[in-house]
This record gives sequence, C-alpha cells and structure tokens, in this order.
Amino acid sequence: MSWLVTGGAGYIGAHVVAALRSAGEPVVVLDDLSTGERSRVGDAVFVPGSILDDALVRRVLREHGVRGIVHIAAKKQVGESMSDPLKYYRENVVGTVALLDAAVDAGVESFVFSSSAATYGMPDVELVNEDTVCDPISVYGRTKLIGEWAVRDVVAASSLRAVSLRYFNVAGAASPALGDPGVFNLIPLVFAALSSGVPPQIFGDDYATPDGTCIRDYIHVADVADAHVAALRWLASGTAASYQVLNIGRGTGASVRDVLGTVADVTGIAVEPEVVGRRPGDPPRVVARVDRIRETLGWTARYDLTNMVASAWAAWTAGRGVRG
Ligand code: WQD
Repeated sequence: MSWLVTGGAGYIGAHVVAALRSAGEPVVVLDDLSTGERSRVGDAVFVPGSILDDALVRRVLREHGVRGIVHIAAKKQVGESMSDPLKYYRENVVGTVALLDAAVDAGVESFVFSSSAATYGMPDVELVNEDTVCDPISVYGRTKLIGEWAVRDVVAASSLRAVSLRYFNVAGAASPALGDPGVFNLIPLVFAALSSGVPPQIFGDDYATPDGTCIRDYIHVADVADAHVAALRWLASGTAASYQVLNIGRGTGASVRDVLGTVADVTGIAVEPEVVGRRPGDPPRVVARVDRIRETLGWTARYDLTNMVASAWAAWTAGRGVRG
C-alpha cells in the first residue's frame, strides 16, 4: 500500500513527499523531471516518467498497491500557458483525465488534486471563498478548473473520494535544499534582482489598495504540504462527503510593498524598487477565506510572511552558486 505523488520531484511536490515521509507514510513518486530534480525526492520510491505514459501509470498503480494519489504534476507558468495553450491542455487536462481513468480502473480510493487560486480569475471580493464564481483569465487557470471538473464528475460516478486544493501564492522552503528553483514569482524575482544589483520591479502602484500595489495571500510551502497530509487522512478516514474544494491560504493579504519591506528586513539589504507599469491580467487583490479548510481538515497555516521570506532567502543563498 502506497501513496502516489505525481510531480513529487518539483518544488511543491517534494515538500508534500517530505511531509508524508515524516508522517511515516509509504510514498512512490512519478515525475518526468522536466522541472523537478531527483535529489528532492529523498527516500521515497522514485519512478521517472510522465503521467501521459498510460502503461507506466497503470503499472505503478498496480505494482505499488497505490491507495491514494496526490496529483501535483502540471505545467504552471501563466505566461507560457497563453503562448503554448496546447502544452497546458495536454499536460494539465489530458494528463489529469488519463490519471483519473487509470485510478478508477485500479480501484484507487483517494485523490488529492493540486488546483490554484488562478481558477478564480479577477475576483471582486474582499475574501475569496470556494463558492466564489470561477472565471479564470489564463489558459493555466482554465486547465486547472477543467481538471477540478473532471475530478468532481469522476467522484460522482465512482467510489473515488477527492479533494481539490486551491493554492494561493506559495512561497518559502522547509529546508534550503527544497527551495523554489524557478524564478517566476515575486519573491524569487526580488532575490534575483538584489543578487545582480538591479532594482526589483513593482508592477503598478496605482491600484485601489492601501499602498497602491497588488495584494496577495502568501502561504508557506511547508503549510501547503501539511494541508495535503491532512487531506489524505481526511479522505482515508472515509467518514465525510466524497468531494470538496478547499482554499489553501492564510486569509491574510500582503501587498507587493509589504513583501519588499519584509525582504529588506530579512536580508538586511536596502530594497529600492522601480515602479513600472501594471502587468496585464493582475487582479488588485486575491485573498482566501480559509474557514472551510479549517472546519473540514482541522488545518490552518502556521507560518507568516517573515518565515516565508527568511526560508526562501536561506535556500536562495545556499543555491546561488548553481543559479549563477
Ligand atoms: C505576485 C504579485 C505581481 C513580480 C501567480 C499565478 C498563480 C499562481 C501563483 C501557480 C503580483 C507582483 C511580481 C515582480 C511585482 N501560480 N509582482 N513585481 O501573479 O499573484 O500568481 O503565481 O500556481 O496562478 O497567477 O504571483 O508572484 O507573479 O505576483 O510587482 O517582479 O507581485 O504584479 O501582484 P501571481 P506573482
């Protein structure tokens, strides 16, 4: 009996694997290493390969007696999703459908789907709850919403039980070796700017927010990982409703200027940003309501923005040699 974590060699996936392993759970990882790294998998069983390799997926489910799947393998760059939509439909939609198909055939009981706040699009509410209408504005967000629908519909027609977890802005690292290798999101972009002596950029300071910059709900990746463990336990307990959508956030907003201030405090480096134009498609404010995940799983975030920035900085400085 094992848990299968797809994408378990990636940034978030490796944290989920580490959390499951420290909870004493047997884990098998399937990852095509397109962005993941073998070294992140630790002592979990590792199978190199893609979720699109149907024969391989079916063999892994059978040979490892997989009882539950945490499906994290996906493409996640919003900009790339607009220029190469078919890659996102193939990996995120076709990949999820193929995995569900194999899971049902293999009698898998539990399925945790990695979704995103990108499913909401441009929400015009103070706090986004799981009933807020989803109107994704990117191909990435649409592929995640379609994935959720596929999971929901399969649950309705089978004995599979599932949770879709909508991640807000994930940051930080549980240990330096597990830091985010990508430089696509605000905190790594600010570190990259500071490391090369150029000003970090603020994408617009004329929003209708207290300091004019966009507000997000930043959540520590170690908290995100713990939420997955709680979700698997909840599903395995077999007592509750068979499908839930849950936000993973802190319920607290931080502006771009708040983040830059925290980076300055943590690093001791004076941060003198350059304000540039708005980035198209950026909602002014996206902050989660987190009552449902607390009530359903008994999970709440433990770490704050300072913990996220400090742990991300420790990982960044440890890995700077490899990043150049
Ligand atoms: C955060 C804030 C920017 C860089 C994206 C995806 C979302 C999820 C997480 C995957 C925004 C501002 C950024 C910079 C800036 N992805 N910013 N200067 O856009 O909230 O969310 O990543 O699962 O689906 O949409 O995250 O880190 O890009 O930006 O001012 O150099 O920082 O405008 O307000 P975002 P982000």
